[in-house]
Amino acid sequence: MTSRIVTITLNPAIDVTYRVGELRLGGTTRVADVRSRAGGKGVNVAAVVRELGGESVVLALTTTGTPDEFRDGLDGLGLAHRLVPALPAVRRTVAVVARTGGTTMLQENGFPAGETAEAGMLDALRAELPAGAVVISGSVPEGLGADVPAKLVRLCTRHGVPVIADVSGAALREVAESGAVLMPNEEELKELGGLDAGPDLVAGGAPAVVATFGAEGAVAVTARGTWRARPAEVVTGNPAGAGDAGAAALAGHLSGMSEVDWPAALADVVATSAAAVLRPVAGEIDIAARERWIRDVKVERIR
Ligand SMILES: Nc1ncnc2c1ncn2[C@@H]1O[C@H](COP(=O)(O)OP(=O)(O)OP(=O)(O)O)[C@@H](O)[C@H]1O
Ligand SMILES: [Mg+2]
Repeated sequence: MTSRIVTITLNPAIDVTYRVGELRLGGTTRVADVRSRAGGKGVNVAAVVRELGGESVVLALTTTGTPDEFRDGLDGLGLAHRLVPALPAVRRTVAVVARTGGTTMLQENGFPAGETAEAGMLDALRAELPAGAVVISGSVPEGLGADVPAKLVRLCTRHGVPVIADVSGAALREVAESGAVLMPNEEELKELGGLDAGPDLVAGGAPAVVATFGAEGAVAVTARGTWRARPAEVVTGNPAGAGDAGAAALAGHLSGMSEVDWPAALADVVATSAAAVLRPVAGEIDIAARERWIRDVKVERIR
């Protein structure tokens, strides 16, 4: 039995960080320090799975062009991957970190995926099954239907492989009845009708809804009960990618399990995601803090 976690990223990115003194809007700002890294939510998930001691593989669309900075970036991070070249280019996100005035994010939406993208992703996923668990994260680029995440989920469930879907908007509504564990944040949960809709989503085919509420923690709605967990401490730091770290932790609990211990899984989600807030870069966690917090997280049954 494989316990490998497959992460799926339909809208990959190159995350660029510019460090500047002061960002002058409408003027020229010199950039003293530039860093770039292969990004996209599934890449963060795969990196955290590895930090947790698991094996991961990044399944993603990438550019048809060369050189492929995204592929090179994954190689640089040492992450295993299976890539489907079907994008004219990989988008960039730019974080301008100013010594004064905080961080400004510029996020490209992404380039439209080509005609071969959907079949290519389904084939790539088929080649990775069976797997311990699959995590589908992030947005769907133009050119792909909002139903593509749901189609990928159904391919997994037909193979008996558990899936976590962390998607939003139309793709989230499409995926709701596909058999995936849903992992919305507070805003995404509203699109599904809020926490009150949890039991209906579970009755409709989701094995669980694990909703995250930022510094307030997370709630797991399942057929066997509903639990709330709060972080052991509220952490100040970088919350971007906290949800991705939580998804990586949850994937480990779903992998190879016929019965999930939901209170334990939820405590791990909350401890691991708080440990991600401590790190300035998405896709990394503070392992020692996670181990400390996993024992201190309070989990209460609320239904
Ligand atoms: N300041 C914080 N202190 C402690 N834990 C936090 C804090 N912010 C977030 N978390 C933890 O991270 C989890 C996920 O956060 P959030 O709900 O913001 O996810 P998200 O919006 O999906 O994040 P992303 O998509 O950027 O990964 C929360 O359930 C919580 O356990
Ligand atoms: Mg999220």
